[in-house]
Amino acid sequence: MKSSVSMRRCICIVGFVLAACVISSRAQLSESFYSNTCPQIFPVVQGMVDQFVAADRSIAGGFLRLQFHDCFVRGCEASVLLRSPIRAAEMDAPPNAGSLRGVDEIDRVKAALEQVCPGVVSCADIITLVTRDAVAAVGGPSWQVLFGRRDGLVSSAIEANLNLATPADPFPVLVQRFGRLGLSVQDLVVLSGAHTFGRSHCIRVMGRLYNFLGLPGLTDPTMDPTFAGTLKIMCPSNQPQGTNVVPLDSTSDTFDTAYFSDLLANRGLFGSDSTLVSNPTSLAIINEAVLQPEAFFRNFSASMVRMGSIGVLTGSAGEVRLNCGRRNQG
Ligand code: HEM
Ligand SMILES: *[C@@H]1O[C@H](CO)[C@@H](O)[C@H](O)[C@H]1NC(C)=O
Repeated sequence: MKSSVSMRRCICIVGFVLAACVISSRAQLSESFYSNTCPQIFPVVQGMVDQFVAADRSIAGGFLRLQFHDCFVRGCEASVLLRSPIRAAEMDAPPNAGSLRGVDEIDRVKAALEQVCPGVVSCADIITLVTRDAVAAVGGPSWQVLFGRRDGLVSSAIEANLNLATPADPFPVLVQRFGRLGLSVQDLVVLSGAHTFGRSHCIRVMGRLYNFLGLPGLTDPTMDPTFAGTLKIMCPSNQPQGTNVVPLDSTSDTFDTAYFSDLLANRGLFGSDSTLVSNPTSLAIINEAVLQPEAFFRNFSASMVRMGSIGVLTGSAGEVRLNCGRRNQG
């Protein structure tokens, strides 16, 4: 009895210290971090993002996913941008290889900022601001970005494989993946709303169409059959490499709530989308998003700020990379 009480106390203290760490790392980010050292960050980034979006509107989806994949592996510290000569970095892992977009664009923004404020702006902060501006540029919500992240020194394909969600993840697995980074079921549902914009390679959905649960010929029976039929035409089984692309929702070049109405009509693209209707808490949020798009926009903004503060390096941790693709030394 006695030992179980002291054990519990011990767990409480550990929990408190962890909570305090998360709060203090958030507190160290600030909107005014570059006010004196690089006030040009806003116009420079905005101007370049406007050019990227004008050349290819869909790139906004690329940036949004890039920030997600950065923050979920070692926190938001730009490890996703590091190149590895032996192809063992995050970007070489299957969830990223061949589908990650926006990396070259971030490198170009970095080069432009090095011209105006050399050695000042971190790659992790650039990812965050570029994503905010790109989402706003395509008609999505906007939010306050906080700065002061520093760049990490390590990037591992193995860690990317372990920490990134897969399109076949069922609801409890998704909740666990988000939960261990301090994100709630609401964050999970609202951030999945990013799938209102952008595209997927067929390979991510072909298992669901032709080999559900590893059973050859089986289509996920929870999918609307008409929707599954359309996807089968776009992703034919005689092209097993699955390199075609399909839209993530019915209006994939518009940032809106069609993703959520699609879910209610059993037209979610991935198993990880469709599974969000299987839980009452999550379903209630989906219903509310459809009825109140402005609540979705508001909550999406808040969840992006939360996601953007996961595991950040601040103060003298890490470094400010001079080139986003490599560490300053070695
Ligand atoms: C909940 C778990 C999630 C899973 C399993 C998942 C999975 C995927 C997959 C498989 C793709 C297609 C990649 C390709 O083949 O090109 C994709 C695309 C995308 N994801 Fe997610 N995702 C999740 C959550 C998120 C979150 C939280 C965000 C951002 C807040 C996000 C933003 C995007 C965007 C914008 C695209 C389109 C990318 C493009 O157009 O290049 N996803 N996601
Ligand atoms: C938005 O956030 C509020 C406060 O957390 C919550 O009550 C509401 O259900 C959320 N709605 C959506 C659509 O996310």
